[in-house]
Amino acid sequence: MSSLSPAGAPLVETKNLTVDFVGTGKPVRAVAGVDLTLAPGEVVALLGESGSGKSVTLRALMRLLPEKRAKIGGSIRVDGRDVTALSRRELSAFRGSTVAMIFQEPGLAFDPVYRVGDQIAEAVVRHERVSRAAGRARALALFERVRIPSPEQRLDNYPHEMSGGMRQRAMIALALACRPKVLLADEPTTALDATVQIQILLLLRELQRELGLAVIFVTHDIGVATEVADRIAVMYAGRIVESGACRDVIRAPAHPYTRGLLASRADHVFTKGTRLETIPGAPPDLTALPPGCAFAPRCAQARPACNAGVPEERTASPHHVARCLLLPAPAEDGACHRADATAAA
Ligand SMILES: Nc1ncnc2c1ncn2[C@@H]1O[C@H](COP(=O)(O)OP(=O)(O)O)[C@@H](O)[C@H]1O
Ligand code: SF4
Ligand SMILES: [Mg+2]
Repeated sequence: MSSLSPAGAPLVETKNLTVDFVGTGKPVRAVAGVDLTLAPGEVVALLGESGSGKSVTLRALMRLLPEKRAKIGGSIRVDGRDVTALSRRELSAFRGSTVAMIFQEPGLAFDPVYRVGDQIAEAVVRHERVSRAAGRARALALFERVRIPSPEQRLDNYPHEMSGGMRQRAMIALALACRPKVLLADEPTTALDATVQIQILLLLRELQRELGLAVIFVTHDIGVATEVADRIAVMYAGRIVESGACRDVIRAPAHPYTRGLLASRADHVFTKGTRLETIPGAPPDLTALPPGCAFAPRCAQARPACNAGVPEERTASPHHVARCLLLPAPAEDGACHRADATAAA
């Protein structure tokens, strides 16, 4: 069942998604069999440390990876379409009007030599085949909607003439310009000051609800994931190692890695004198992963069985799964066995 959404037919569905980078040197499997679903209007946070494969997963969904160097395997369906089979022409219509993306760095979205308003108007004209005046009017309405002050004047700014927070707002306007159903957000608030970060998160949440957008929100910050998400999918070394409803994952994290992320969260220190824990060791080298659980070298509860093979998903609670041998193994006779957990004690 994995991360299947309980909320009906998915808008996004990947099955056994893999991404291998090939070229010079050893191939790197950045995404190693991801099953991810997103229902209409749902917000899923993809959470994990740097290098876990979050951005590559998002880029694969829009086919934004370099085609010769990044080999995509498995299936990707978005809004009923097989994304891996889209022609170049179909892709360009698909990007923007079905799925749009916002980034940590707005420089990836805007060309520095054109005015911001013109770039948004141009996207509307190209996708919706309307007049320039209609494109400009939509850009203005979007600037108003994302609450950019003096929107009429700001449309004529070049990207460098805006502050960081304002550029993020403009990038959100650009992403929404062609009325996408799915928004992919790749750490859009990471580079911002704390106050601006909160304002942008609130704006995104408001727009998501108002427009019924489905969102995949990539973050390394479990606090941000908790703020925005209905469901959380935790990534480690290219795999989803835990997924479930946000409240279940936060209240009862089932994977030691998720527990480590929670313990290392600064605002988790509620009691005076509580130590801020960190996860020991470094994120894994994808070219030299252990044969079994990739988290084993950093896991205080690892034991020999963890190196035998990559752990399958096990059920922690309804719609909540994790790839960890500490959870009860599914029993062939329908009963649950706590043998692994007992052995770990
Ligand atoms: N363009 C690329 N060429 C080769 N390897 C890449 C490229 N982009 C990403 N990778 C590999 O994929 C891994 C995951 O990257 P990424 O998805 O960007 O991580 P993050 O979880 O921080 O977003 C990286 O650690 C790197 O090994
Ligand atoms: S499978 Fe083993 S090594 Fe991996 S997280 Fe669970 S206990 Fe730790
Ligand atoms: Mg990233």
